Amino acid sequence: MMKIYLAPMEGITTFVYRNAFQHYYGGIDKYFTPFLSSKKLNYKEVNDVHPEHNQGLAVTPQILTNQADTFLSITAQLADYGYQEVNLNLGCPSGTVVAKRRGAGFLSVPEALDAFLEEIFTKCPLAISIKTRIGIDAIDEWDTLLSVYAKYPIKELIIHPRLQQEFYHGTPHTEAFRQAQDALSIPLCYNGDIFSVDAYKALAEQLAPTDTFMLGRGALANPQLPALLKKSTTNGTWDLNTFLAFHDEIVMGYRELMSGDQPVLFRMKELWGYMGTHLNLSDKQLKKIRKTTRLTDYQEIIQSIFSH
Ligand SMILES: Cc1cc2nc3c(=O)[nH]c(=O)nc-3n(C[C@H](O)[C@H](O)[C@H](O)COP(=O)(O)O)c2cc1C
Repeated sequence: MMKIYLAPMEGITTFVYRNAFQHYYGGIDKYFTPFLSSKKLNYKEVNDVHPEHNQGLAVTPQILTNQADTFLSITAQLADYGYQEVNLNLGCPSGTVVAKRRGAGFLSVPEALDAFLEEIFTKCPLAISIKTRIGIDAIDEWDTLLSVYAKYPIKELIIHPRLQQEFYHGTPHTEAFRQAQDALSIPLCYNGDIFSVDAYKALAEQLAPTDTFMLGRGALANPQLPALLKKSTTNGTWDLNTFLAFHDEIVMGYRELMSGDQPVLFRMKELWGYMGTHLNLSDKQLKKIRKTTRLTDYQEIIQSIFSH
């Protein structure tokens, strides 16, 4: 049975977003939290993983660190909340993260990565999955990384087959994914550029027997996409009222969580960067959204855009 995961996206796939997504769209077999990185989880991180905020959702928390003691400290706290699986972030390409050799930056020091994995796989009582890129700046780095991954009982390896240097540019290297299929006997999940049912179908055919796919930006742009993939149909009707109810629930969730209009607007504006294209909003409309500084104005703009 094919599985669809919602990708972790910092500042976007928060518990507020995950709950609204599940409520109105679903089609997701597993949600991932944006990365956690504080040795003692901070208020925001605790809020995001707390079981009360994730009822009825299958959630795997993600951790970003290169320190085994930090990883083990976070997993101990997650175990107390009842989690059975955690995900290690070896994919984040951001300059500041990479400079500290975390995220994709950890891939630049395979021996240190190997030692880190050795320690966490020995000491961590929870199942560990990994989300990885295929290297920093050359495809042949992938051979070395695969030989490291082959040593550990990774619950699932989620591969975004791009190099750190590529950020989100160019086409994902599907041949690197095929190479992992040959080299490893652990479950694999493909991630990258699934923006339509057709893109999914082509990949599913090319990458069979892999049947687990993670969606990020494609699901943000069209929250109906995961459910469409599960039904294997392109002709789901787009229901505007469902979308607006989904949207309003996210706004409401952030209003409860944050104080003042600005942080709520910040989150919504970022989301519109992804949702705008799918809904065919004009540049002028998007600009109007970006320029609002008050929630009441924002809500009026949204209403006027969608009343036509
Ligand atoms: C704004 C943004 C935030 C992201 N935050 C995270 C994160 O916290 N952890 C992570 O592993 N990947 C993160 N990613 C990467 C996504 O999980 C995913 O791998 C990437 O978007 C490629 O998948 P897609 O083509 O389906 O979007 C982020 C990506 C974006 C665009």
